Amino acid sequence: DKGNRRHFMEKEIHEQPEMISHTLAHYVDFVGGVSKPLDLPFDFAKIDRLAISACGTAYLAGLIGKYWFERYARLPVDIDVASEFRYREMPLSNKDAAFFISQSGETADTLASLRYCRKAGMKIGAIVNVRESTMARESDVVLPTLAGPEIGVASTKAFTCQLSVLATLAVRAGAARGTISLEQEKTLVRELSEAPRFANQVLKLEDQIEKLARELSRYKHVLYLGRDTNFPLAMEGALKLKEISYIHAEGYAAGELKHGPIALIDENMPVIVIAPHDRIFEKTVSNMQEVAARGGKIILITDQRGAAHATVETMETIVLPDVPEIISPIIYALPIQMLAYFTAVFMGTDVDQPRNLAKSVTVE
Ligand code: F6R
Repeated sequence: DKGNRRHFMEKEIHEQPEMISHTLAHYVDFVGGVSKPLDLPFDFAKIDRLAISACGTAYLAGLIGKYWFERYARLPVDIDVASEFRYREMPLSNKDAAFFISQSGETADTLASLRYCRKAGMKIGAIVNVRESTMARESDVVLPTLAGPEIGVASTKAFTCQLSVLATLAVRAGAARGTISLEQEKTLVRELSEAPRFANQVLKLEDQIEKLARELSRYKHVLYLGRDTNFPLAMEGALKLKEISYIHAEGYAAGELKHGPIALIDENMPVIVIAPHDRIFEKTVSNMQEVAARGGKIILITDQRGAAHATVETMETIVLPDVPEIISPIIYALPIQMLAYFTAVFMGTDVDQPRNLAKSVTVE
C-alpha cells in the first residue's frame, strides 16, 4: 500500500526517520547513551581485520562502514563487491569476522561470498532486512535492519538503515577495542540519536529538490563528487539516478577529478558535489573551482557553514542542517535519493520497477 504517495519509492524515502529510529534503538540504549548488549560470535577486540562484501547499494553502505570502522575502531576493513570477493581468492583468516550486507538476504553473489567465508572458518554476521532470508539462516549472527518491507526496486530506506547498523557497530567496536573512551561512546550515541530528527528536516527540502530535478532531467550526463564518506555517497547518488531516470551518471572521489573525468567537464554535464563543511571541505572547494573554471555547472549539497564558505558560483545550492560527522552519510543520503526520485518522475520512467532490474538478484 502506497498510502497517499505516488510511488513506493517516495513512501519509502519518507519512512526513513521512523525506520532509522527503530533500527538505531535495536542497537543502542539512548537513555544510557551506550551500545546495547549484543551476542556476537566474536570479540571486536580480538580480531585483526573485518571483511565486508555486498552488491550495489548495500556495497556502498559497506564502503561507508569501512571509513567508520577504521576511524572509530582502528579496525582494518577489506571490502569488495561480492562478485569480485567470491572469486579473487583473497587471504582469509579463521580468526577474523566477515559481514554481509543485503536488503533481501538472497542476492546470489553475496550469499556465495558468505559461504566462502564460512568455509574459511570465519565468523559470519548478516546485516539483512529480511529476517527469514537465506543469509540470515546461514550466519552466526543476524544484525537486522528494521526498515520494514522495501518494495521500490531502488533501495532507499534499507540503505540508511544499513548505515545506521554499521555506525552503531563501529562505535561498539571502538569501545571494545579501547579506541574511543566511554565519554566518546556516549557522545557518538547521542549524535546517532539525532539522525531521525535531522532526516525529517531534510525531507522538508522537497520543493527545492523537485524544482532542481526538473532542471536536471534535461541533461544526459551527470557527475557526482565527494570526499571521505561522501565518496561512496557520490557513487550511490549516481547509481540511484542512472537506475531510475536512465540518465548516465558517475560518482567519483573529488580528488580523482584531475586524473581523468575533468576532461568531460562542460556546460552540458552538471556536477553534483556532496560536501558538508568538514575537515577536507577546502579541498573540495578547489575541485569546484576547477569545474567552474571550465564552464561546468555545480549543484552543491552542503550545510550552512559550507554554503557560507564555498567561494564558487553554483547552479543550485542545497543547504542541509549542520549535523555531527557520524550521521552525515545518513542525512546526506536523503537529498540524493530525492533528487533521483523527482528526476525520474519528470522523465516519466517506471520509478518503482525500472527496466531490466529486479528487486532481488538471485542468479549470478
Ligand atoms: C540499487 C539497488 C541494488 C541492490 C543490490 C543488492 O538501488 O537496490 O543495487 O542494492 O541489488 O541487493 P540486496 O541488498 O538485496 O542484496
